[in-house]
Amino acid sequence: VTVAAVVPAAGRGERLGPGAPKALRRIGGQPLLVHAVRALGAAPSVEVVVVAAPAADVQAVSDLLADLSFDARIRVVAGGPSRQASVGLALAVLDDHPDVDVVLVHDAARPLVPVALIESVVAAVRSGASAVVPGMPVADTIKRIETVDATALVAETLDRAGLRAIQTPQGFDRAVLVAAHAAAAELGAAAAAAPATDDAALVERFGHRIHVVHGDEEAFKVTRPIDLVLAEALLARRRAAEQ
Ligand code: CTP
Ligand code: MG
Repeated sequence: VTVAAVVPAAGRGERLGPGAPKALRRIGGQPLLVHAVRALGAAPSVEVVVVAAPAADVQAVSDLLADLSFDARIRVVAGGPSRQASVGLALAVLDDHPDVDVVLVHDAARPLVPVALIESVVAAVRSGASAVVPGMPVADTIKRIETVDATALVAETLDRAGLRAIQTPQGFDRAVLVAAHAAAAELGAAAAAAPATDDAALVERFGHRIHVVHGDEEAFKVTRPIDLVLAEALLARRRAAEQ
């Protein structure tokens, strides 16, 4: 089994506030993307990493990643207007890698993903699942709301026990993921206006079973400013533990 990892990193990070594109914002002195690619490179099974970078930063990202020394081959392409489009553009690069049969998709915005989680997703795909996502129990009570006359009202309280917050890396049989992206790309303008926020959502539309493995709280996504505080603290704790 040959495993490739696709890393969508082309987002602006609007919820993080003004500054560089999110994947290039730093924690512990290094861009989020570098942390994420390092984790993938440290996973023994990952042989190819394809990064979808912000279009204006393709060269800068290539230079940044060229300095990393590992066995995995690294390719950088320009991303697109949505996460879904960025993943699709990165998947196209795999045409040059016909030997790849398992594809992981991992957000650059999840820089501190443990290698053990990456390997557990790969193991689940290897043992026969065509799609695998890591899931975490939900801490908050989740309610569906509706807005009536500009007032937010609770429509329904969901049963928290049956909910999971889904992380990355998500792992797929290559052919299943490529077919799901191709079909989504063919849906046209209406669908493009509401792109999927993860890859499993595209695969679900085909009725494939999506297996859920245990996620890891350290695979959290850097979305808002407070997440950078958490990421810095976690990194400092890891570095202290390594001393
Ligand atoms: N992403 C991407 N291309 C896009 C949009 C997002 O490759 N056009 C990537 C981001 O770089 C990130 C991942 O998808 O690694 C998850 O998306 P999200 O957390 O929403 O990041 P942003 O879109 O950058 O953030 P925001 O939604 O706050 O602008
Ligand atoms: Mg986004």
